[in-house]
This record gives sequence, C-alpha cells and structure tokens, in this order.
Amino acid sequence: MIIDPKTIDKKDVYKLLTGAIVPRPIAWVSTVSKEGVYNLAPFSFFTVASRNPPTLCLSIGPGIGEREGTMKDTLRNAMDTGELVINIVSQSLGQKMQMSSGNFQAEVDEFLQVGVTPSESVGVRPPRVLEAPISMECKVNDIISVGTDHLVLARLVYYHIKDEIYMEGNKVDLLKLEPIGRLAGGYAKVNEIFEL
Ligand SMILES: Cc1cc2nc3c(=O)[nH]c(=O)nc-3n(C[C@H](O)[C@H](O)[C@H](O)COP(=O)(O)O)c2cc1C
Repeated sequence: MIIDPKTIDKKDVYKLLTGAIVPRPIAWVSTVSKEGVYNLAPFSFFTVASRNPPTLCLSIGPGIGEREGTMKDTLRNAMDTGELVINIVSQSLGQKMQMSSGNFQAEVDEFLQVGVTPSESVGVRPPRVLEAPISMECKVNDIISVGTDHLVLARLVYYHIKDEIYMEGNKVDLLKLEPIGRLAGGYAKVNEIFEL
C-alpha cells in the first residue's frame, strides 16, 4: 500500500507517523513563566540534535481542545525565558507524567498539581523534578517554526543523574533507569536489552 499524505486527513497522517516512529523517548519538560509559575509537560517528539555542543530538540504543537489557537505553556515559557529542564521518566513516574499532559491553565503550578518535588537547578531558573532519575538543565539556542509546530533546540548546561543508575565510565544503567517509550497512543517498557 502506498499512501500520499496530501490525500488523507491531517489527523490520519499524524496517526501514521506516531505509529511508525516508535518507541519515542519522552522529555518531561520543566519551565517557569515570566510570572514565576512552574510548568511541567511531556513531549515525545524529542531527541538529541547535536552531540557537540550537546544539544537536544523537541517539537511543540499548537494548543488543542479549549486551548486551540493558543501557544502551549512550555513553548511560551521557553520563548520568554530561554530556559528549560528535560527530566527523564522512569516507569514509576509514568502516571504523574501522563497527568502533567492535561490542559492546565498557565497559572497552575503543575509540580503541585501532579505531586512531584521541584528541586532548584544549578544554572537555570526552572526547577528539575527531584524524583526523576536524570534531569538535563538546558538553555534555548533556537526555536524554528516548522509548519504548525515549533522545533526547540536547547543546549545542555548541567546533567543530573542519580548515583544508583550511574555506571563507571559515564554510562547509564538502563535496566535500573527503567525508561518508558511513547508508542502511537500507549507506552512501552524497556526491560530487555540485546546486542546485534
Ligand atoms: C507521552 C506524551 C507525549 C507528548 N508529546 C507531545 C509532543 O511531542 N508535542 C506536543 O506538542 N505535545 C505533546 N504531548 C501533549 C502535551 O504534553 C500537552 O499538550 C500539554 O498539555 C502541554 O502542556 P503545556 O501547555 O503546559 O506546555 C504529549 C503528551 C503525552 C502524554
């Protein structure tokens, strides 16, 4: 079967893409608004953009539902402050991560809302999620508009990792990290690792 994306509904193109690009890592992004409100939201259109200088990227779509026609808080805050923290989600944090994807008003502190602890960052204003196994403090380098979405490029300034998942030689113990991956709709566990 060959599908020409121009001939089908935009929602169906989205379904085909999110069913093919799997499993996707999840950036659980903390930002702070100009007014000082903490925000937290997950983004699975996320990866490494450059190893040197270490740069991550994530893609943020337009507001949906009752927030249609508006910008998501994460994008607004990243634009306003130029800073964000990307927290990695282990299985035990899955429920809270999912809760933080709710359509909350900009005035709502999403750390409080989902019940995670804000911990002061070293080089940026947004706090990291204390419970997260890995948190990466980042400064926004560039925000590129791509169609309806915005690609945020952010340079790593500090890397936090829990001692128990750090392995000698700057490696991450992936079985202890227990990351979850985003599928089309659901999630995948990483609990079997093999070599090729
Ligand atoms: C696992 C997961 C992954 C998501 N990935 C994205 C994404 O890559 N891009 C996006 O725009 N929204 C994504 N969302 C939806 C946002 O998290 C959601 O719109 C959220 O309300 C944005 O919050 P904010 O307005 O506080 O920034 C995802 C949601 C979940 C649960």
